[in-house]
Amino acid sequence: MPKKIAERVIYLTEILNRYDHQYHVLGEQEVPDSEYDKLYKELKEIEKKYPEFKKADSPSSKIGGQPQDKFKSIKHINRMYSLNNAFSNEDLKNFDSRLKNIVKSDEDLEYTCEPKLDGIAVNLRYENGELKYALTRGDGVIGEDITLNVRTIKNIPFTLQGNKKIIIPSTIEIRGEIFMTKQHFEQLNDHARSHNEKEFANPRNAAAGSMRQLDPQITAKRNLSVFFYSVGDVWDVDLPDTHYETLQYLKKLGFPINPKNKLVNNLEKCQHYYQEIGIIREQLPYEIDGVVYKINSHAMQKKIGYVAKAPRWAIAHKYPAEEVMTILKEVEFQVSRTGILTPVARLEPVSVGGVTVSNATLHNMDEILRKDIRINDTVIIRRAGDVIPKVVEVVLNKRKNSKKIFLPDKCPVCGTKTHKDDNIVAAYCTAGMQCKAQQQESISHFVSRKAMDIEGLSKKTVSQLVDTKIIKEIADLYSIEVEDIINLERMGEKSASNLINSIKKSKKTTLARFIFALGIKDVGDVIAKKIAEHFKTIPKILSAKYEELVGIEDIGEVVANNILQFFSNQRNLDSINKFLKLGVKPQYEQAQNNTELSNKNFVITGTLNKYSRETAKTALEGLGANVTSSVTKKTDFLVVGVSPGSKFNKAKNLGIQILSEDEFIMFIEQYS
Ligand code: IVH
Repeated sequence: MPKKIAERVIYLTEILNRYDHQYHVLGEQEVPDSEYDKLYKELKEIEKKYPEFKKADSPSSKIGGQPQDKFKSIKHINRMYSLNNAFSNEDLKNFDSRLKNIVKSDEDLEYTCEPKLDGIAVNLRYENGELKYALTRGDGVIGEDITLNVRTIKNIPFTLQGNKKIIIPSTIEIRGEIFMTKQHFEQLNDHARSHNEKEFANPRNAAAGSMRQLDPQITAKRNLSVFFYSVGDVWDVDLPDTHYETLQYLKKLGFPINPKNKLVNNLEKCQHYYQEIGIIREQLPYEIDGVVYKINSHAMQKKIGYVAKAPRWAIAHKYPAEEVMTILKEVEFQVSRTGILTPVARLEPVSVGGVTVSNATLHNMDEILRKDIRINDTVIIRRAGDVIPKVVEVVLNKRKNSKKIFLPDKCPVCGTKTHKDDNIVAAYCTAGMQCKAQQQESISHFVSRKAMDIEGLSKKTVSQLVDTKIIKEIADLYSIEVEDIINLERMGEKSASNLINSIKKSKKTTLARFIFALGIKDVGDVIAKKIAEHFKTIPKILSAKYEELVGIEDIGEVVANNILQFFSNQRNLDSINKFLKLGVKPQYEQAQNNTELSNKNFVITGTLNKYSRETAKTALEGLGANVTSSVTKKTDFLVVGVSPGSKFNKAKNLGIQILSEDEFIMFIEQYS
């Protein structure tokens, strides 16, 4: 038994040291944080039980790996610490009681709460108000000189601005986190994709990779940012007595400080803060992996002190992981409205970001080839926000019995031979409306919210209508009666008559919606609006010429040809005639000078601090928005106060935009 334990310790120490080196020095990540945390926890537990097996180079007694000598190595004046983690309320309570014991007090403790940005730590030294050098954390003792790269970051001051009240210390070292916003990360990857270059797996890796550039001109193009969170060393100036006031002082000196930082007077309020930030986490412009609580009083911090690698007076309260590892069991191809075959990964179910995931999008064959994704591969799955999870990358060193993925020769739904592009990265089913999948997708698009907006026609109901041949083509929707559908599975009398009513209601619609609903290739709702504005009637659209179409803003050659092709197809013309005969009346509607909130649907949940529900409702209605009580697919925004109800989860699942109270107030101010 002890032999087995000793072997396990060696294995865990080696693998964690390797992951540390990749993460801290190379700016790469072979496994997701959750996998690292799991192994680290296992090692710590064994080391606690069998201290005699602990290795001298155990990752539990150091931070990160040794710096590379590409950049000059410099010893930190004062060690750069890491943070211990809390994953549950129990961990937090233990932390708070431990500190109360140390300071020998039963009184509530005051904490500063800060978002924990997921980027890379940096230490800046200013002498006589001038930026002298910038170091990475490295192993906490020795960092690397990244001054040239740091000087390219736009929100870092080169020179500090003092005044009569704000004295600039002769020397000050400050610490913070360099990060890339989600928006700049997407832009960087879009650029990489279009230039056939390697994409970064996440904004953290992108920030780390950017700081590791030997050419600062490349770093300068990466749009990095920083927020500072502590002082590492200071001369000739007495810092304020508390951490929160110190952050205000740093702000006055010209350093960017996170505006979401908050001072609270007990642990319960830290937990509220965790919830509040959790709610708006997806809307934050940068990625965070938790929040940090720090004892506010400097005197108390000093008394509480440090453990080997972290302050005892601070803790990181982590959110559930957004990236996890799982096995890709199978790839299935789904047929889209226009016949394109899209690959979908079927996964070994795994919990990510608190939700069990068993499917992930693979986008297209191009992506599969670029990332070299194969069946049976161990893959990293990422679920950021409410978007469908995606496969970030393959864990190559775990590859075993993998099978390459090929485009199918036959449509998986109707069996028709597929057409493949010359470059073999895309395949299409050529059966058009004869293919059940394409027919169903077209109907679902036709009835969707931005198109004819027919409520009560879920994908399931559409599939029933097609299977039972109640609908053979989309226009048949307008001739169905209650009796035709009342006997369908899970369709009561009430829902049948509701459905028929909403179909009838949709007959009166705008020209733009109708054009969008037709599903012409590449004609989205915006282009549909432009077509409606230009031609104003259906006959004029039907007789449109190429020159006139390309003269419309946003319509290029490809889209113009798609439109002409659509209207030259007799089947499509017959279908349009049938719609009109059955009473569909698309009317051109002049764009009104509405505010952007006109007709947007809001729901409020939880208690708001600064507004009563009624005042919030009146303010929104004054701007033309609707306020309703339940969350449905039609809801545009959910405003979330303290202790939100089940509406919050429902809205999250429906992908509805969520606003915290502060964001809601900003919204109102912006539009008032
Ligand atoms: S305080 C002595 N505050 O998290 C204090 N760290 O896991 C040590 N981080 O190395 C750090 N946001 O890179 C602190 N508001 C914040 C932070 C933060 C992100 C990073 C930092 C640190 C790592 C520890």
